Amino acid sequence: MVRVRGGCRMSTSYEAEWVARFGEEGRFTGDLPDLPWLRQILLRRTHRRYAERPVAEPLLRLLLGAAFAASSKSDFQQASAIWVKNRNQRERLAALVPDMPWVGSAPVFLVFCGDAHRLERIGRLRDHCQDNGRLEGFFNAAIDAALVMQTFILAAETAGLGCCPISVIRNHADAVAEILRLPEKVFPVAGVCAGYPALPGHISMRLPSQVTVHTDQYDDKHLAQAVDAYDHRRDARYSLPREQQRSPDIFGYASFYGWSEDKARQATRPEGQCFPCHLRARGFTLD
Ligand SMILES: Cc1cc2nc3c(=O)[nH]c(=O)nc-3n(C[C@H](O)[C@H](O)[C@H](O)COP(=O)(O)O)c2cc1C
Repeated sequence: MVRVRGGCRMSTSYEAEWVARFGEEGRFTGDLPDLPWLRQILLRRTHRRYAERPVAEPLLRLLLGAAFAASSKSDFQQASAIWVKNRNQRERLAALVPDMPWVGSAPVFLVFCGDAHRLERIGRLRDHCQDNGRLEGFFNAAIDAALVMQTFILAAETAGLGCCPISVIRNHADAVAEILRLPEKVFPVAGVCAGYPALPGHISMRLPSQVTVHTDQYDDKHLAQAVDAYDHRRDARYSLPREQQRSPDIFGYASFYGWSEDKARQATRPEGQCFPCHLRARGFTLD
């Protein structure tokens, strides 16, 4: 549908944004509210290259405030963010992941942490001791931190910034804990690089709602066909060059190399084997 508002014609169908996000038409029927922020969310993208322009501290503080407006399980508020301003600490973190130079070069680097420690401290302050190191405590803190992180990313994008979450720092959780002096039961969920984007970036096409949104009951009977079609839509927009096929020494070269082949290959090498150990050594029982 096309509406005239203030003399300019505005599409309220979200069709262009939907196609950009999913590579296929949304085929919406009926009237929809025209919400620019929704368009921006549909068009969101990760940025890994940043302009020299610094991010003003008051803006960053505002964005972090908005981030902590995220929902919180039981209002326990078990997330913490660490803004890594100190150059030496930043370089030590960047050195942990040399194949991701944006960790060192981004104007801003934050680490979003699950924080199951604060609730225990508050318990001690109020003389009500509790054990927040079980799987539930860990999970609640991880979810709170993830929600705060994503709210930060969306808020930052609204302000014209671009972001890149960095979860590979978890592969070096002991070193991260030492560099950031994390107490027991505070663990990194992900870092976030932020800055004004140097390039427009590109939209990473998502699986269709047919696969991700279920009605009344879980239903994946059409998964194989839907994923094939998605692979081909995605490939038509940006096909991976042959040299980017993952681990050809193990899997060989595929004549058609779609997203699903790439992700299936990637998932044969599990990450994060050290993380359970790290968590147990730092007070989580995870039972
Ligand atoms: C929890 C999480 C961790 C991520 N970790 C990394 C990372 O370590 N390094 C990186 O370059 N990108 C990382 N990303 C960015 C993803 O690669 C990116 O979100 C994905 O490719 C989809 O692209 P899009 O965000 O542009 O839609 C991470 C994203 C999330 C949500």
